[in-house]
Amino acid sequence: MLYVNFSWESLKLPLDRREDLSGTTTHGAKLTVPTTVGRDSGIEIGLAGATEPPHMTVTIVGAQLGDEGKGALVDRWGEEADTVVRYQGGDNAGHTVVEDGEEYKLSLVPSGCVRGKTGVLGNGCVVNPRTLFDEIESLREQGLDPDVRVAKRAHVIMPYHRVFDQMEEADKEDTDMKVGTTGRGIGPTYEDKAGRRGVRVGDLLDTDVLRSRLEYTVPQKRAIAEDVFGIDTGVEFDVDELVAEYANYGQRLRENDMLVEAGDFLHEQHESGGNLLFEGAQGTSIDIDHGNYPNVTSSNPTAGGAAVGSGVGPGVVGSGEIVGIVKAYLSRVGEGPLPTEMEADEAELADEIREKGGEFGTVTGRPRRIGWLDVPMLRHAARRSSFTGLAVNHVDVLAGLEELKLCHSYELDGETRTTMPATTEEWARCEPNFREFETWSEQDWSAVAAEGYDALPAACRDYLEYLEGELDAPVYAVGVGPDRDQTVERQTPWE
Ligand code: IMP
Repeated sequence: MLYVNFSWESLKLPLDRREDLSGTTTHGAKLTVPTTVGRDSGIEIGLAGATEPPHMTVTIVGAQLGDEGKGALVDRWGEEADTVVRYQGGDNAGHTVVEDGEEYKLSLVPSGCVRGKTGVLGNGCVVNPRTLFDEIESLREQGLDPDVRVAKRAHVIMPYHRVFDQMEEADKEDTDMKVGTTGRGIGPTYEDKAGRRGVRVGDLLDTDVLRSRLEYTVPQKRAIAEDVFGIDTGVEFDVDELVAEYANYGQRLRENDMLVEAGDFLHEQHESGGNLLFEGAQGTSIDIDHGNYPNVTSSNPTAGGAAVGSGVGPGVVGSGEIVGIVKAYLSRVGEGPLPTEMEADEAELADEIREKGGEFGTVTGRPRRIGWLDVPMLRHAARRSSFTGLAVNHVDVLAGLEELKLCHSYELDGETRTTMPATTEEWARCEPNFREFETWSEQDWSAVAAEGYDALPAACRDYLEYLEGELDAPVYAVGVGPDRDQTVERQTPWE
């Protein structure tokens, strides 16, 4: 239990408000001391009778447009977690985990499962059972026994959702509405969730419920696909086939003991001392609420999503660390503006960075567009998710460049702006104000990682420390290469 020692006089609270601070509060709760209280007020806060620090949560959030290299940090910091939780998205997220030279490619299974942790797909996820079982199967073939749990409240991606995703993208092809989705059916599944016509994982357990849901929804979908979009529909819209296949997934989930009431499951894990790591997919600027709509994914990668999408309270997420993952430059897969995109006269530089940084989509293989670091975008991300720390990746990719700059602010309609405007049209009109930075040269990055932060080139540290100042959060880790040992760790968020 948290205890607080103080005198009422030192708090300078009126008598009728003194009740506010009485009583006990469970560990992890944040205590806000009124500003009238000075540092020397004699107030003491601590853990009564506790010898161990309280168990924690760490939430990993992409600060840009996805592909910031979150996987490497989830992998590293997941070691101290007992449970790794995905709280949004589906099989549109791609990451590779390398363990003892063996490569594991994942798009849905939480990456902690590769290291023997329990992985949970929270209620905020959209789950394609085909992908899930395929990934579990290939992990088994590689000798692992992954422990994956799926929230009964999560929504199911059905085959017709993929058809809709691809059909709508094709329809938008020559318009500025095109999103450039991964084609995995993510958006249409969230649409049905919000439209209260979705199928949840728990519905797969009861064939009658599953059938009645599909008998309502599928004829509508078929009619839209055929009559509005003019496509020929196939087996993806056949209720009997769908019931047979998806009821079978339900059975497999039950038989393998994979189903959970995720909120309660995680609450119990946390209460009994388990460390939870929330693994955000995608990034802040493609968040459905805080990203550059409509070029966004359909869920909330920002830290608030970790609470809503897993069923733990926001106080639990907020009591832990929230680490923003930043790539030292910018890349974008898919459509949408990119004010700091390298222009035609910088095309060679963009190619160099793309090749060196392996900037090709993990799920789709598409080449990514390349831009300079956009700091207004990062300020936006830090505020939306309350970053308590940062990890900056790919600083090795910038080594040896002839010039190095970043966008400190934008000019928009004669005004200087330090954060992102709310509409995508305004964002597209932003002109970046660049700041030049000293470049750094190639290093033996493994040696740098082994030696620690001070072994980074001074110019690189200047770049990182500028970011710390602008985002008001310390850099915990610096990615200097793709291998597991190529991370300079200053501090782990579990400390
Ligand atoms: P969706 O998530 O497939 O609907 O795609 C919506 C937008 O998010 C598209 O611009 C995608 O390219 C982008 N997107 C989705 N997942 C990722 C990811 O893991 N990394 C980067 N971009 C992504």
